[in-house]
Amino acid sequence: MYKVKIFGAGSIGNHLAHACRRQEWDVAICDLDPTALERTRKEIYPSRYGAWDEEIRLAAPKELENETFDLTIIGTPPDSHMGIACTELEKRPPKVLLIEKPLCTPSLEKAEELLELAKKTGTFVAVGYNHTLTRHSRKAAELLAGGLLGQPLTISAAFREYWGGIFKAHPWLDGPQDSYLGFAARGGGAGGEHSHAISIWQYFANLTNAGRITEVGAMLDYVEEGRLDYDRIFQVNVKTETGLVGTIVQDVVTEPPCKEARLQGDKGFLEWIVNLDADHDGLRYSGDNDEIVEELFAKTRPDDFAGEIAHLGEILAHGAPEYSPITLEHGLSTMQVVTAAHLSHQLKRTVRIDPDAGYGTRALQLI
Ligand SMILES: NC(=O)c1ccc[n+]([C@@H]2O[C@H](COP(=O)([O-])OP(=O)(O)OC[C@H]3O[C@@H](n4cnc5c(N)ncnc54)[C@H](O)[C@@H]3O)[C@@H](O)[C@H]2O)c1
Repeated sequence: MYKVKIFGAGSIGNHLAHACRRQEWDVAICDLDPTALERTRKEIYPSRYGAWDEEIRLAAPKELENETFDLTIIGTPPDSHMGIACTELEKRPPKVLLIEKPLCTPSLEKAEELLELAKKTGTFVAVGYNHTLTRHSRKAAELLAGGLLGQPLTISAAFREYWGGIFKAHPWLDGPQDSYLGFAARGGGAGGEHSHAISIWQYFANLTNAGRITEVGAMLDYVEEGRLDYDRIFQVNVKTETGLVGTIVQDVVTEPPCKEARLQGDKGFLEWIVNLDADHDGLRYSGDNDEIVEELFAKTRPDDFAGEIAHLGEILAHGAPEYSPITLEHGLSTMQVVTAAHLSHQLKRTVRIDPDAGYGTRALQLI
């Protein structure tokens, strides 16, 4: 049984605690705020999963400082991720460290430091782009590996969701001003919050050998009211190192939500849909025989995290795999696109991401 420590007794902390308990792992959740721990025990966990699980330990972070864990999960606001991650790797490196998305703020602070620490400690560091590991994503990966598309021509991805749903899951918040969500510089706004679209675009580009994103041209819609300062619409055109051109759209206004990607090749296409209906993810595709196939994948909200946690279980048991869609490098390259998009919008210029210049802001250049 693996020992797991989760930082943050909020929405994601509960999801991931539950996913780890489904694997029968030993879970401790810590939070700086005693009210959040109490809310987890009395409200969030029982209302989502039927009952509180007495096996889960609740603690202040200090109480767990002298214990070691196999898996440490950072489920706190994005502007705290890098500080907690570096301290954990320096003081008590786990075998696997999962940091929630978005990995950090658009300043890309501590990117190189974290990479160095991951190398030095040998900890497998992952970033929580869980949608790359759901059942329909695994099937999509198999289809792409089988050459469904032929030569890839373009990819588009969208995560467009009015964030009323997020506030429903956080009834203790009155609105975006009460958390990082209303502040792009803290990792909120559409660019950070819905960066699953950038991540899945990059994942599919990788699987089709289209390469890494090297150019970003963006148009954003910012809300600047009182203290609020965030992008509610985040639209980018991107180009990869092999010359493939595509689009990524993320927003916090679309209702009902739309979370999908589409890949077009010279022989076929693939559509990847999250929450096609309340109980299913979906795929729609066709290869060179022109027959359109539609597949539904039954799922519940907890299943959104089951594939990710099972993947980490494999890594705990057998070590780092040859390929993982949720590596630290993947999470860093996703954040580089967010940063490049803010820069591109502000300067009305295309931004180049030099794929050989590391993962900090140094890799971003104006074209
Ligand atoms: N992968 C997904 O689908 C998904 C879903 C929800 C949230 N998230 C991500 O998870 C992160 C957290 O989001 P949330 O909605 O759970 O936030 P939340 O506000 O519900 O919870 C965060 C908790 O972290 C605690 N915290 C802050 N700093 C801490 C520290 N240093 N040590 C211990 N606890 C600390 C806060 O007190 C709070 O209780 C964000 O990065 C968000 O984008 C990902």
